[in-house]
Amino acid sequence: MDFSVYLPALLSFFSHCTAQWCYQSQYSCNDTCREPIHWAAQFPSCGGLRQSPINIVTSRVHVNGALPPFAFIGHTNRINVTVENKGHSAHFALPQSVRLTGGALPGQYRAAQFHFHWGGNGRPGSEHTIDGERYPMELHIVHIKEPYGSLVEAEHDMVGIALLAFLFEETPDDHPHLDAVIAALGRVQNNGNSTVIPNFQLSDIIPSAEELHSYYRYVGSMTTPGCEQAVAWTLFHRKLAVSSRQLDDIVRQCRFWTGQPMTDTFRPTQPLDGRVVYRSVASGAVTSVLRFWISVVSVVLLTTCPIH
Ligand SMILES: *[C@@H]1O[C@H](CO)[C@@H](O)[C@H](O)[C@H]1NC(C)=O
Ligand SMILES: *[C@@H]1O[C@H](CO)[C@@H](O)[C@H](O)[C@H]1NC(C)=O
Ligand SMILES: *[C@@H]1O[C@H](CO)[C@@H](O)[C@H](O)[C@H]1NC(C)=O
Ligand SMILES: [Zn+2]
Repeated sequence: MDFSVYLPALLSFFSHCTAQWCYQSQYSCNDTCREPIHWAAQFPSCGGLRQSPINIVTSRVHVNGALPPFAFIGHTNRINVTVENKGHSAHFALPQSVRLTGGALPGQYRAAQFHFHWGGNGRPGSEHTIDGERYPMELHIVHIKEPYGSLVEAEHDMVGIALLAFLFEETPDDHPHLDAVIAALGRVQNNGNSTVIPNFQLSDIIPSAEELHSYYRYVGSMTTPGCEQAVAWTLFHRKLAVSSRQLDDIVRQCRFWTGQPMTDTFRPTQPLDGRVVYRSVASGAVTSVLRFWISVVSVVLLTTCPIH
C-alpha cells in the first residue's frame, strides 16, 4: 500500500482541523484559515449565548440608577508600554499599577493590555455598533479581576474580565496624543515584532473617570477566540477623536500573521440571546440640571417672598 497517496489528503485534513482563526477580511477560498462563522468549530465558547460584540439598540436599553462612575488608578502614571504585533492585532501591555474600581463591578481589576479594532480604506471598523452604525475604530482596555493572574484563571467567572470600550469618531483635528501610538504601530509591522513607547500615560488617550459617567453595560465575551464568556462590558458614551489622516496611518501599517494587510479587524455582531443592555444615569448631567433649577426656584422665592 502506498501511503504517499494518502499523505497529502491526511495533511490537508489535519491543517483544516487545526486551522488558525482569522477575520473575514483575511479569508479567501484558497485559505485554510477559520473565518468568524466557523470559529465555534474549534472554540466552542464562540457559539455560546453570551457573545460579543453586539449591536446596541438605544430604544431597548434599560436605564439603571445603580451604575456609578469608575475610579481609575494609575492612569496618570508615566509608564513604558511594550507593543507587540500578535498576528491578529497589536497589543499594548499595561503594568499592574494601572487599575480600576467602581462602575458596579465586584472589587478591583488590574489592567493587562489595550488594543484597537479598525477598518480599512475609509471603511469603519468598530466591533460594537450603535443602532446599526459602525464607528471608525474601537479601543479595548482589558482588565482582569483580582486576585486572578491570567485570562485562563478569570474565564470561569462571569465578570472575571472588565473590558472598557471606546468608540472613535472622525474629527477634522488630530487626536493630540495618538501619534505615539501610531508611530509604535509602524515599528511592529510584522507578526512577532515588538517595541516600547516610553513615558506613556493612559490619560493621554482617554478622559478621566469624572468625564465618563455615561456608559452602557452588558455581560458578554472576548471578541477573539476562545470567546471566553467572562466579560463585564462597559461601552462609554463619550467618543474619542481621530482624524482621517491618523486613521489612514493606523490601518495601513501592520500585517496579519498571514502577511496580508491588517485591516477590518472586527468580529461581526452577535445575537443578544435575551440579554439586557443597561445604561448608567449620567449623574453629572442630572445634577447640573438640578442645580440650575434649584437656583432658579430660590431666586424666584427670594424675589417674590416678602421678607418681614
Ligand atoms: C487563489 O489561488 C489562485 C490559483 O493559485 C490564484 O490565482 C489566486 O490569486 C488566489 N487568490 C487569492 C485571493 O489568494
Ligand atoms: C522606562 O525605560 C527607561 C529606559 O529604559 C528607564 O530609564 C525608566 O526607568 C523606565 N520607566 C519605568 C517607569 O519603568
Ligand atoms: C519584524 O518581523 C519580521 C518577520 O519576522 C522580521 O523579519 C523583522 O526583522 C522584524 N523587525 C524588527 C524590527 O524586529
Ligand atoms: Zn478587542
